[in-house]
Amino acid sequence: MDGHSGQADPRIFLDTGAFSSMRERLFARSWQWMGDLEALSAPGSFEASLLLPGWLDEPILAWRGTDGTLRTFLNACSHRGHAVGAGRGCASKLACPYHARRFDANGTCLGQPFVESAGFPGDGDALRKFPSHESAPWWFAAVDPGWDVGDWLEPFLARCGHLPLADLRRDDARVSEYVVDASWVLYVDNYLEGLHIPFLHGGLDATLAFERYRYATFARSTLQIGVAAEGEPAFDPPEGHPDHGLRVAAWWWWLWPNLMLNVYPWGVSVNVVIPESPTRTRIRFIPYMFPGCVRGGGAGGDLHRVEMEDEAAILSVQRGIASRLWRPRPHLPVHEDGLARFHALLGDVLGTT
Ligand code: FES
Ligand SMILES: [Fe+2]
Repeated sequence: MDGHSGQADPRIFLDTGAFSSMRERLFARSWQWMGDLEALSAPGSFEASLLLPGWLDEPILAWRGTDGTLRTFLNACSHRGHAVGAGRGCASKLACPYHARRFDANGTCLGQPFVESAGFPGDGDALRKFPSHESAPWWFAAVDPGWDVGDWLEPFLARCGHLPLADLRRDDARVSEYVVDASWVLYVDNYLEGLHIPFLHGGLDATLAFERYRYATFARSTLQIGVAAEGEPAFDPPEGHPDHGLRVAAWWWWLWPNLMLNVYPWGVSVNVVIPESPTRTRIRFIPYMFPGCVRGGGAGGDLHRVEMEDEAAILSVQRGIASRLWRPRPHLPVHEDGLARFHALLGDVLGTT
């Protein structure tokens, strides 16, 4: 620590003990972006997946009841733990493939062939539930949430909720994954400041009026606003919007701890950051298009190039901060307010502030 409030020493995340304690203390308490609702719209539709694959690995079954309510269950049978649902489908009841214990879409156990026992099935035989939340076009889930999902999403929805988010459609051909041999903390640090754009991202910089770049910081999220250079694609936010009068090339949102929602005139690029080890991070890119839009130029025109430029810098930083001589300095004002917020939240989790 350097004495500056909210400044956690990022080297702590190279330590295996601190890294693995974050899995339970932070990620198991966090809200996670789970995907979109496209396959879950009809009554009875279900989808089996993992909550944060490769890191939390919680088997989850999202299942829309005949009453229209989406419920999310631990996808582990109350008998001996086999997955009840697989892939996607539509059913009012599911039978576990192992010994055929049956459940309805409320998670209630309906019985099991060849089993007759006093009190069976009882309440304890129901599927266990995960807290979940729908905000079209996406859904979110948590194991044991440490904060309110509505408060968490509120700044994003207040700023971008006027856009036709519910009509976004996943661009399957462009879904991609990156793996970088660096700490997830450095990946997020890099995302949270725009100060490097003029130096690292020549292509992106040319689409922006960088002198008008701005930031906003919220309790568990941050926003960066890229203002478009002359002639570049941009939003013109309506009257009464906090950014009315700006030609917005991008709203770049980070939601604590590992979600990025990058809003461009063509759509939204969702990034999910998944820690794999203290020095290895997987990042999923899931692009969504607004109706009738095609991916063009502008700030969101060449995301792969920007990602490669960022990853090269992050790898260099990973080597630098691993040195025995390197010491962290206080975060810079304005451009690093988001990093300060991120590190204050990390410090709260790890008890270092
Ligand atoms: S584990 Fe599901 S019926 Fe046995
Ligand atoms: Fe960057």
